Amino acid sequence: MNVLFVSSEVAPFAKSGGLGDISASLPRHLKTIGHDVRVFLPLYGSIDARGTQEIIPGLVFQLGPHEIRVSIVAARLPGSEVPVYFVRCPSLYDRPGLYEQGPDEHLRFAVLCHAALRACQVLRFAPDIAHVNDWQTGLIPLLLKLPPFAGDRFFARTRSLLTIHNIGFQGIFEARHMAECGLAQATTLLHQEDLRAGRLGFLTTGVLHANAITTVSPTYAREIQTPEQGFGLDGLLRQRREVLFGILNGIDEDEWSPERDPHLRHHYSSADLSGKERNKAALLETARLPYQREIPLAAIVSRLAWQKGFDLCMPVLPGILQRRGMQLVVLGTGEKRYHDFFESLSRAFPQQVAFRPTFDENLAHRIEAGADLFLMPSRYEPCGLNQMYSLRYGTVPVVHKTGGLADTVWQYDERSGRGTGFVFEHFDEGGLSWALNRALGVWGTGSGEDRERWIQLQRNGMRLPLGWSHRIDEYVSLYRRLAPEASQ
Ligand code: ADP
Ligand code: GLC
Repeated sequence: MNVLFVSSEVAPFAKSGGLGDISASLPRHLKTIGHDVRVFLPLYGSIDARGTQEIIPGLVFQLGPHEIRVSIVAARLPGSEVPVYFVRCPSLYDRPGLYEQGPDEHLRFAVLCHAALRACQVLRFAPDIAHVNDWQTGLIPLLLKLPPFAGDRFFARTRSLLTIHNIGFQGIFEARHMAECGLAQATTLLHQEDLRAGRLGFLTTGVLHANAITTVSPTYAREIQTPEQGFGLDGLLRQRREVLFGILNGIDEDEWSPERDPHLRHHYSSADLSGKERNKAALLETARLPYQREIPLAAIVSRLAWQKGFDLCMPVLPGILQRRGMQLVVLGTGEKRYHDFFESLSRAFPQQVAFRPTFDENLAHRIEAGADLFLMPSRYEPCGLNQMYSLRYGTVPVVHKTGGLADTVWQYDERSGRGTGFVFEHFDEGGLSWALNRALGVWGTGSGEDRERWIQLQRNGMRLPLGWSHRIDEYVSLYRRLAPEASQ
């Protein structure tokens, strides 16, 4: 099938979180099994454009009062033959960050939507599926119903699929920006209540018009239909539940597996975990913390955001660090209050805690490989990749039972030896403290029989089928249901 895949992040070019990983690994796997997938994203200022090739020098179109001029430059997704098309428009994208709260944010991503479709016309690429991701690409399902795209034979068969990676971000703008988004003629097709309230929601528009909607885990697909977790879109999603599906993300095992991770000095597998211990020693040296085999090392690699539940760490971690010998390495950037907290924790426990307030891909891999435990107390988590990377690396996850965490981590049971991690149900201090103390209890002395038990627990997780090869069929069968003629 011909798949147009549009996203605001594609690793390694642009990544702030899991969306970047998925927008690279899913297209790569679709290509491997024979689909013609083309990926579009903005050419942000942070992307090194050397080695790219200009394939469409000038695309000019009108959005309200603005004459938009973009060009399209192409590259390949590393490690694959997937073409990546960057939308080049320096006045909109040549800025320090990927996202901004600025006055033209709607325009930045409306241009991405329009440019991707216009480029397909020029390239004579007729997509069977337009697979769009999150609010930044949410206008595409509607644009396909409007001129100049509706009625164009290149889009005659195109069906749209919107994947929601995080419903907490919806791209809500003032309705007066409608014309600048190229929607002046589409008033009747927009969400009427929003319009009356003076709002234009990119994600809402996608939810209204996509032929199908997926989100990144089955549990999250149920959760976003509830008022507690729907961030205001639950009603609309309930109306569209016949075409709403939860498909768990897969992980890219070429990038993320302890047997061949290019970032690791010491490779290892579930059969021989000795390399993991060497990675732990090396990681602690990097973190300037003392290494002792029997002391468990916990880790956090995350955006430091409200969603991730670190408010629970504030009352819980100091006591645990004091009472039980545990070490902690934290890699993350984000909100100031979490920076301040982890900073103060590392000052209070200089032998036990190291905080790295940076974005560091290489260190993220070395942490996954070197740590014993991984903390993910997320308030909500659409899928979550780090708990899956952790499982794969024998780094036992401690998680809140929500979204994709609930679908990927199974409570460890000491009697049967089954399970892959420690899961707490109630999002409160007691919950996190209970789960973390249980984990430390199972770790025990870190030697002898305790060690044997721990290795069994690690192996349970390492042997799970988490790669895309186990998931891709779910997307492909949905594509086929949407575009049956394409699969003849
Ligand atoms: P989310 O997308 O909500 O941030 P995920 O668990 O799906 O959460 O994905 C997070 C991704 O971002 C992982 O690949 C993780 O390793 C990466 N990541 C997050 N923070 C950092 C950081 N400070 N340095 C390097 N990688 C990070
Ligand atoms: C979002 C979610 C995260 C998910 C990722 C990739 O950023 O917060 O849970 O894993 O998208 O789908």
